[in-house]
Amino acid sequence: MTLDPGGMETRKRRHIDVCLSEAVDYQTVTTGLERYRLPYNALTQTNLGSVDLANDFLGARLRAPVLIGSMTGGAELSGTINRNLAAAAQQLGIGMMLGSQRIMLDNGSASTSFNVRDVAPDVLLIGNIGLAQLDEFMVPDLVKALDHVGANALAVHTNPLQEAMQHEGDTDFSGSVSRLRDIAGSIGYPVMLKEVGHGIGAAAAAELVDCPIAAVDVAGAGGTSWARVEQYVRYGEIRYPALAEWGIPTAEALQEVRHTLPDVSIVASGGIRTGMDAAKVLAMGADAVAVARPLLAPAIESPAAVVDWLQRFIDELLVCLHGCGAANLAALRRRGVTEL
Ligand SMILES: Cc1cc2nc3c(=O)[nH]c(=O)nc-3n(C[C@H](O)[C@H](O)[C@H](O)COP(=O)(O)O)c2cc1C
Repeated sequence: MTLDPGGMETRKRRHIDVCLSEAVDYQTVTTGLERYRLPYNALTQTNLGSVDLANDFLGARLRAPVLIGSMTGGAELSGTINRNLAAAAQQLGIGMMLGSQRIMLDNGSASTSFNVRDVAPDVLLIGNIGLAQLDEFMVPDLVKALDHVGANALAVHTNPLQEAMQHEGDTDFSGSVSRLRDIAGSIGYPVMLKEVGHGIGAAAAAELVDCPIAAVDVAGAGGTSWARVEQYVRYGEIRYPALAEWGIPTAEALQEVRHTLPDVSIVASGGIRTGMDAAKVLAMGADAVAVARPLLAPAIESPAAVVDWLQRFIDELLVCLHGCGAANLAALRRRGVTEL
């Protein structure tokens, strides 16, 4: 047994360091949400104190339609990060996606950094694995890893651009849609397909028609660019700026996936930074939102720091519903958004 297979633990640690110290957000591409306005209603008939953000997602009741985005796991610091995120999710009644559990499959001792159920007994907990690594032979070990952490569902991340930027990344995606289809239909956990910040759009959504997945997290462009992160990790600089800026903006990705897959649950993420961003994507048809990198620094600090960031975000979302006359999320979706 290798203690750090393929240097994965070291790479995870580099990801964290680069995400904390370099400019890893898209520099020119935005989420596109600035092109939409939430219609303000000066004669709202709502009471802010009674606005209800509760929502059902992947079979769980969330107090607010917010998920902590997949971040990390495996390295020692990841254990702290995961537990602080999970404790905050428990306090707020929201969901949490774990980072890639691939390291658990190669190195059993890495699994402790994913153990969060003792601090988050009631949280909707979503496990994680890469599509590039997913094959039928790993399914038994993957199921064990999901059972071990007490996951409710599995997120499969598809990241061809990130892998292409990564030193010795997995660059063969041939056959991955059919493997996803087989595994989603048989693994016994609801499966959500996600990107990592370059966006699931119309072409990818078309591949998912008739695929037995429960949800899509569009993880669009406009927030963290993983093609930037990987270039900093590999070269210490951006050598391919056009690739670092490549992706489908979150607002577009959401609309394209909603159009092609009208009945699939959708998470909007990628550059969701404010309660207003969240209100807009929920009004546009998302079932929940996810936030990743802004929670990394608070997660290294304490559960309270994570709660502080997210409570402010949720408070802003509440005011957005109130100000557009929506007492709950169904009413918000009926309001929709105005294109500028
Ligand atoms: C430190 C860090 C580690 C991440 N690790 C994973 C991962 O293991 N699996 C995954 O699916 N996404 C991973 N992501 C991607 C996020 O889940 C998310 O899709 C992306 O960062 C865009 O969201 P953001 O703009 O809110 O950061 C990671 C993000 C960060 C910041």
